[in-house]
Amino acid sequence: MKIFLDTASLEEIREGAELGVVDGVTTNPSLLAKEKGDPEDILLEICRTVDGPISAEVVATDAAGMLSEGRHWASLHKNIVVKCPCTADGLKATKLLAGEGIRVNMTLIFSPTQALLAAKAGARFASPFVGRLDDVATPGMELVRDILEIFRNYGYPCEVLAASLRHPMHVVEAAKAGAHIGTLPMAVFRQLLKHPLTDIGLKRFLDDWEKAKKEMGQRTSR
Ligand code: E4P
Repeated sequence: MKIFLDTASLEEIREGAELGVVDGVTTNPSLLAKEKGDPEDILLEICRTVDGPISAEVVATDAAGMLSEGRHWASLHKNIVVKCPCTADGLKATKLLAGEGIRVNMTLIFSPTQALLAAKAGARFASPFVGRLDDVATPGMELVRDILEIFRNYGYPCEVLAASLRHPMHVVEAAKAGAHIGTLPMAVFRQLLKHPLTDIGLKRFLDDWEKAKKEMGQRTSR
């Protein structure tokens, strides 16, 4: 499964990118609004930091507006993927952008039918929002499984980008389901690596090694 970071924080993105396992970044207007600076400059710097798909979302709600915003985002850098919401206008814009060779991440997907339409419109990525469905007592991961099954049935080249992942078990379940990508906030990404037994085990190895070195030193000085 490819791992994307779900943040517009350059500090977090640099921290994640240094580990060498980050394949892309997703942003949205809420995430960009939290950062200081011009969103365009931030997106460009993200593209320079991570050489993979970087989602930049349109804020227009009509197809013509989405098309012109999408063209603009895509013209900024080869890594930019245009995020369009899963609405009627979003579908029209996706079809046109895809026809121009611009990659689209169809976002705010909450049903298998929306994902089917996104794939048919030519979206390169479909983003089901797992956590937001869980929030309303609807099992978000079932949606990921349903979409994967539908895409497999017809061989759609659209990748399932499991979004709104809130904790490590979401990541495990998305990977078990076969999601192509999981996008995670930095806090969740950090949690993926941590295990207390790793820390305890490492400390024990290092302590034992120090003891052994001391004993070796004592033997050679006799
Ligand atoms: C990613 O593309 C989405 O914008 C994001 O995962 C939404 O996450 P949230 O539901 O935690 O805001």
